[in-house]
Amino acid sequence: MRISIIGAGYVGLVSGVCLSEVGNRVICVDRIPERVQSILHGISPIYEPGLEDLLRRNLKNRRFTATQDLARAVKESDITLIAVPTPSRNGAIDLRYVRAATREVGHALRSKRAFHVVAVKSTVVPSTSDTIVRPLLQESSGKKAGEFGLCANPEFLKEGDAIKDFLRPDRIVIGSDEERSFRVFKKIYSRFHCPILHTNLRTAEMIKYAANSLLASLISYSNEIASIAEAVGDVDVVDVLRGVHLDARLTPFLEGAVSSLRGRLSPGIISYLKAGCGYGGSCLPKDVPALCTLAEKRGYEPGLLRSVISINQQQPLRLMKRLSHELGGLRSKKVAVWGIAFKPDTDDVRDTPAKPIVDSLVQAGAKVSVYDPFGLEAARKTLFQDTPLTYAQTQFEAAAGAHALVVVTSWPQFVNVDFRKLASLMKKRAFIVDGRRVYERWSVLAAGLRYLGVGYRESEAA
Ligand SMILES: NC(=O)c1ccc[n+]([C@@H]2O[C@H](COP(=O)([O-])OP(=O)(O)OC[C@H]3O[C@@H](n4cnc5c(N)ncnc54)[C@H](O)[C@@H]3O)[C@@H](O)[C@H]2O)c1
Repeated sequence: MRISIIGAGYVGLVSGVCLSEVGNRVICVDRIPERVQSILHGISPIYEPGLEDLLRRNLKNRRFTATQDLARAVKESDITLIAVPTPSRNGAIDLRYVRAATREVGHALRSKRAFHVVAVKSTVVPSTSDTIVRPLLQESSGKKAGEFGLCANPEFLKEGDAIKDFLRPDRIVIGSDEERSFRVFKKIYSRFHCPILHTNLRTAEMIKYAANSLLASLISYSNEIASIAEAVGDVDVVDVLRGVHLDARLTPFLEGAVSSLRGRLSPGIISYLKAGCGYGGSCLPKDVPALCTLAEKRGYEPGLLRSVISINQQQPLRLMKRLSHELGGLRSKKVAVWGIAFKPDTDDVRDTPAKPIVDSLVQAGAKVSVYDPFGLEAARKTLFQDTPLTYAQTQFEAAAGAHALVVVTSWPQFVNVDFRKLASLMKKRAFIVDGRRVYERWSVLAAGLRYLGVGYRESEAA
């Protein structure tokens, strides 16, 4: 199929190169000229493992290209995917990019005679496609629904694993209110072997929010258990959750396994049942509030999901409060922060928990030095423009002379650090603040450092 994709960001670019890899012809459109040029030169504007190789291969075989010319891209394709941002504004979804892209697509369709399917790949709250996108397309194209097709095709890829997730999806969800659009659209996925769930437009949109809300809820559940463990004392949330994971309904026995010690499945969902300094990134922090705001507008109070958000907002601040207590205040203390990206293997710093952590440290008068293998540039440009910080060149440079080191992102080079080396660089009896519960406490203590971890506090009586 010939596909145009509006927006060449994490979702648009990954979808574009992967759909061309499986035999489609793809034109990605972006309005940022440098982004388009960079893509055309085979240089990925975002860091995503494996993306650049795939991009170069498909540029070379001419199945993939990029442009700023949206009208041309739409005219030269049969299907258009809209993959523009849907940020949050005051907790509600901000549809300005979706509206603008839809209008432009509609204008381009005016002079097109062949049946063309528009699919919304951006995450949009249920009822967006039928109450906003469809009328806008009708108005700007001068065509009636039916003369063009409309689908909702939410994306479930995870940054850091995006290529694998896209090429080997667990499911593909296609929403459409009529059969023809579905029939045409599903052809782009003809080489994929996974369940294709066909629903109406609103249900497809809702599936994405339901999935993200579940993931956010599991994380906030784990963090609430961590906070209760801290309040009680001498309870380690890591062991508590390990005990929970061993429930065979979460980690089922493999067929034919003779013992429950071996032969268990370890489903990916388990990684969300883990305590830490909170979730971040481009999806969960904006999508859960957007769903809540929509629910409230429609007359339902989503109490559970509001608590999920509140726990997540408190989580990084609780950790910094504990550090402040241990250090007797943060004024003039040097604190290193390892990790700005919201998770490893990405340079995405959107809504990262590193932001409230660094801000609260700086506000309390600490001298903060940060390091991230890929996220520093984005952090400098978009997160901390006016924040007095030191950007270190290496993780050890950040930690040198620090009273405390806060680990926000579990990059492998942070997880596998040599504590003796760290101890030799940091202040005497400095704190390692384990924001992701990636360290063995005893190995930190054995190096002469002190340990502060989410979900563990020694009881005062002990
Ligand atoms: N990033 C993820 O992991 C992820 C996963 C699943 C779903 N989503 C959803 O996918 C959507 C896109 O997210 P993203 O992370 O790819 O965003 P992004 O910010 O990385 O990329 C969006 C791109 O769209 C371009 N753009 C905006 N308006 C345009 C227009 N009118 N014409 C041409 N280009 C335009 C921007 O310049 C930008 O390059 C969002 O709704 C998001 O919630 C994201």
